[in-house]
Formats: sequence, structure tokens, C-alpha cells
Amino acid sequence: MVEKRKEDFMTTLKHDFKHLLVEEKTGDLSGIILVTLHRPEVLNAMNRLMLEELKEVLTWLGEQLHLRVLILTGSGDKAFVAGADISQFEKMTPAEAIEFATFGQSVFNLLEGLPQATIAALNGYALGGGSELALACDFIYAARDAKLGQPEVNLGIVPGYGGTQRLSRLIGKAMAKELIFSGKIISAEEALRIRWVNAVFEGKDLMAEVYKTAKLIASMAPRAVAESKKAIEEGYDISLGSALELECDAFSATFGTQDQKEGARAFLEKRSPKFTGR
Ligand code: COA
Repeated sequence: MVEKRKEDFMTTLKHDFKHLLVEEKTGDLSGIILVTLHRPEVLNAMNRLMLEELKEVLTWLGEQLHLRVLILTGSGDKAFVAGADISQFEKMTPAEAIEFATFGQSVFNLLEGLPQATIAALNGYALGGGSELALACDFIYAARDAKLGQPEVNLGIVPGYGGTQRLSRLIGKAMAKELIFSGKIISAEEALRIRWVNAVFEGKDLMAEVYKTAKLIASMAPRAVAESKKAIEEGYDISLGSALELECDAFSATFGTQDQKEGARAFLEKRSPKFTGR
């Protein structure tokens, strides 16, 4: 039944999505799903339809536990996502702005809350909403010529898809303030220096490097990855004592899985573990 639904969905997906390309990898990359933001004529700027399509894919993905890693990237070689589509802003009222930000935030929260690991592969500009999309992923790899920034002040607005919160949590308040107040657009190397991105590669090597890490993650016990993610996410903003309790619960939950027994057994038998996700 699940397989059937998956097949149906993947078939519909190929035909129905206008601004996303969705590819479930096979062979030695099985367990990995690649979603490409696709509006190349406007540097993949995000409009409402793209966000709605993303919401649909993410909602579906949350139930597809055979998929272990989501990779997000941008179409073409110039941009990941050059921001929210600015043409939406000219006539937007304050009330409409609340709906706009709330909807975008709900989609990015869905991304952040996925049980799978998520990697943003920045193949070019990641600005405004594009940077915020990457920030809702677990971590970011970037091409050497990628550029990152929250240039919203230059449009007279504030980042509205989580940038003020996720960027300051990731790189610290003062650095986030400097970048957001000035709208500076920085190089991938600079982003690496301030730990906004985890690694930088030559553009031609970016996807191979992303797949290398994605494959490694996909080969691990999925519940262990999901529980680690949950403990990190939920424990990040609370007291250390409460966060350690969360870790205890996560640790304990993995002991109810067959994969945990397999992991220990494989080590003792000096062989590679075969994880099934159970
Ligand atoms: N929204 C709508 N359209 C956008 C866009 C956005 N965020 N970013 C780029 N585009 C469009 C451009 O208007 C242009 O369309 P056109 O060919 O019809 O004129 C096309 O994408 C190509 O962009 P262009 O500006 O010509 O490319 P460039 O290489 O000269 O500059 C950027 C690239 C990213 C520096 C520049 O496009 C830019 O500053 N974009 C807006 C970034 C931003 O402020 N993002 C935050 C939004 S909240």
C-alpha cells in the first residue's frame, strides 16, 4: 500500500510540479531524495506556488521513512534561491505580510522537523528566503562561488521566513545583526569562516561531496539519526538539564530497535551492520 502510494506520488510529482524537480535516487544513492528549486528565469526566486509545492513534498516525505536524506539545491549554476519573489511585495499590506510570513515559516518548520537528515547544497546565490530555506536544513554545503546574505533591509523589510531567529542561533547574535542590518552579501569562504556553512567545495565537486556525506548518513540506523536530530533540535533552546533528559529519552528509544541490536552485534562480530530501519 505504502509502495503503491509512493509510486503514485512519484508519478504525479514528475508531471504536476511546476517549480520543483523531485528525484528519488536509486542504486548506491538509494535512500536519498533530491529536490531542486526550479524557476531558473528568476534565479529560483520563491513564489507562493513553489512554497505550496514544497509543502506538499515535505508533508509526503515526513511519512516516507525509507528515504533517509533530503538534499535541496537550485536549478542552473547561478543560484540556489535568490530570495522570495520580490514582485509579491510591492502592493502587500501589513495584514497580508503576516499571512505571507506565517505560511513560509510553517513550510520551513516542516522542513526543520523532518525525521530525515536534510542538506542544503548551495550552488550559487542564497539570499533572503533562499538563505532562510538553507538555514532550516540540518546543515549547508556551498560551492566556492556561492554567495549568502539576508539583504531584506535593502527592500525596506525584515527577514520573514526565520532569518532573524535561525541565523542568530547558528552564527551568534552580533554576527547575525551585522549581516542583517547591513544587508551584506558574503562569499562562501566568509560564510565558512563564521560557520554559516559546514564546508565549501569547487562548484564542479559540490554535488559529489554532498552525495558522499548523504550516502554515509543514509547507511546509518535511521532511528538513531532521527532521534539525534530530535534531541539536538528540541534541546537547543532549553536548559542543559532538561535537554539532557531529552537525550536520555532519545538514547533509550534507540534501545527498542532491531537496528540497535544489529549495530552492537555487527561490531562484536567484526562486520558491517545491516540496518533495516526497524
Ligand atoms: N525576486 C524576483 N525576481 C528576481 C529575484 C527575486 N528575489 N532575484 C532575481 N530575480 C530576477 C531578476 O529580476 C531578473 O529578471 P529579469 O531577467 O526579468 O530582469 C532575473 O532574476 C536575473 O536576475 P539579475 O538581477 O538580472 O541577475 P544578476 O546576476 O545581475 O544579479 C542578484 C543577481 C541575485 C544579485 C540580483 O538578482 C538580486 O539582487 N536579486 C534579489 C536578491 C534579494 O534581495 N533577495 C531577497 C528577497 S526577500
